[in-house]
Amino acid sequence: MSERTWSLRHVIPPCPAPPRTPPGAGFELDNDACAACHEAEAAQWRGSQHQTAYSEREFQRALAHEPMPFCRGCHAPEADPRRAASGQAAEIGVGCVSCHIVGDAVLAAPGPDVAAPHPLRRDPRFATAAACANCHQFGFPDNRRRARPEAMQRTVAEHAASPRAATTCSDCHMRDRAGARTHAFVGSRDDHYFRDALTVEATRPAPDRIELRIAARPDVVGHAVPTGDLFRRLAVAVRPEDGAGARPWTTAYLARHYALESSGGPPLRVERSDDRPHPGEPPRVLRFQLDPGDRAHPVAWEVRFERVESLFQEREDRAVVVGALTVAAGELPPALP
Ligand code: HEC
Ligand code: HEC
Ligand code: HEC
Ligand code: HEC
Ligand code: HEC
Repeated sequence: MSERTWSLRHVIPPCPAPPRTPPGAGFELDNDACAACHEAEAAQWRGSQHQTAYSEREFQRALAHEPMPFCRGCHAPEADPRRAASGQAAEIGVGCVSCHIVGDAVLAAPGPDVAAPHPLRRDPRFATAAACANCHQFGFPDNRRRARPEAMQRTVAEHAASPRAATTCSDCHMRDRAGARTHAFVGSRDDHYFRDALTVEATRPAPDRIELRIAARPDVVGHAVPTGDLFRRLAVAVRPEDGAGARPWTTAYLARHYALESSGGPPLRVERSDDRPHPGEPPRVLRFQLDPGDRAHPVAWEVRFERVESLFQEREDRAVVVGALTVAAGELPPALP
């Protein structure tokens, strides 16, 4: 196996991180070798968000808006980030080698001695959030221009502050529903996994008022919901059903909310508030005031998880939704006269 040059930026050594300078040639080919011997892991990894991190449509569309080496370095860590990735380095995205190769050894969690045909470097940190931290917690690329640096993603900090800090990322994300080990790293694309993470309660405390209470379940999730990428949110919507045809939904968003600030250079995206549900915190309560004319109408409600196009929009209601999943929905009967 080729020796990986130690030019990686290891925030938490020896854990995987996006390379700061182009990785040495040949690592994408080593990936085939790993996959050939470790067939089970390879089958689970294929089709995962890690494997498609660079090739998938969502990333390519976002990259078209901000074609930066910064982005490519993390979504195609085996390619030269200065130019568009191609061939196998683009195809494998975050591959076996991206997470496991350190120098000329394979990084592994502590375990019994095994007869491996390659050197193993067992390190306890690889079995903790440190194995994910260098890619799942990072700042904005323009932080140097800011008075106060901000995190673009902060899943690791959310996890450390949650009631599940002692449960590692891999304890949850490397288990399938039956509890068996998997390299599929399921997250936002699994309906059940996502829905299970939230509790939603809808009530009509007055004829003209609807309340929704949304909480993240600490028994299921170990960080805010949603976490990760900025362009994700919960849309909470109500709609009176007056029988005269579809009325528009009134929608509120639970998200990290941003505003653009001018700074002399290109505008800075600055976080204004974060009202996502966090596990262990009281539910978020959303109150909707109805028109007096709707007191006698049933009211439909819905909570959706949305992924939106990464355009620099200030109007949240105008964001282009590229993926959505209904978390919960129902209808509240009219209040009795
Ligand atoms: C020629 C076959 C072969 C190749 C190539 C290979 N491995 Fe292995 N690897 C093994 C065998 C055999 C073991 C022993 C334990 C087992 O069977 O899983 C092992 C052990 C491991 C372990 C430790 C498992 C444990 O017990 O904790 C890891 C992690 C690992 N390999 C990852 C990789 C990665 C990543 C690559 C590619 C860079 C790779 N291997 C390439 C055959 C191979
Ligand atoms: C996103 C990072 C990541 C990627 C990509 C990845 N692994 Fe792993 N792998 C891990 C972590 C972390 C562990 C150890 C987790 C623990 O024990 O807590 C692990 C464990 C293993 C093990 C030991 C057995 C087990 O399931 O614990 C083998 C073998 C292995 N990986 C092989 C591979 C191969 C082959 C690929 C590519 C097909 C691959 N890995 C891709 C992070 C990754
Ligand atoms: C080398 C960088 C890197 C490392 C290390 C890494 N990831 Fe990722 N991970 C990514 C990227 C990039 C994506 C986004 C893929 C995409 O574009 O959809 C991702 C996606 C994911 C997703 C899917 C998110 C979704 O929206 O469904 C999960 C879950 C995940 N990672 C968990 C982990 C865990 C747990 C670890 C540590 C054991 C880890 N990752 C280590 C880079 C990394
Ligand atoms: C107690 C279990 C648990 C732990 C611990 C946990 N997660 Fe998750 N994670 C989930 C569940 C459930 C979801 C689906 C709901 C959601 O997206 O928030 C999820 C979703 C995600 C997503 C998808 C992004 C999105 O759209 O919300 C990423 C990325 C992720 N987790 C990464 C991590 C990382 C990195 C760690 C460790 C720092 C971690 N998770 C720890 C259970 C867990
Ligand atoms: C340090 C690593 C890192 C850097 C740099 C990075 N990303 Fe990501 N990106 C991730 C991780 C990890 C995820 C998974 C979290 C999640 O699913 O919410 C992700 C998720 C995404 C997603 C969602 C993909 C999907 O299918 O759901 C898009 C789009 C995206 N990134 C675009 C970008 C763009 C554009 C840039 C540059 C401005 C960038 N990323 C820079 C690590 C990185």
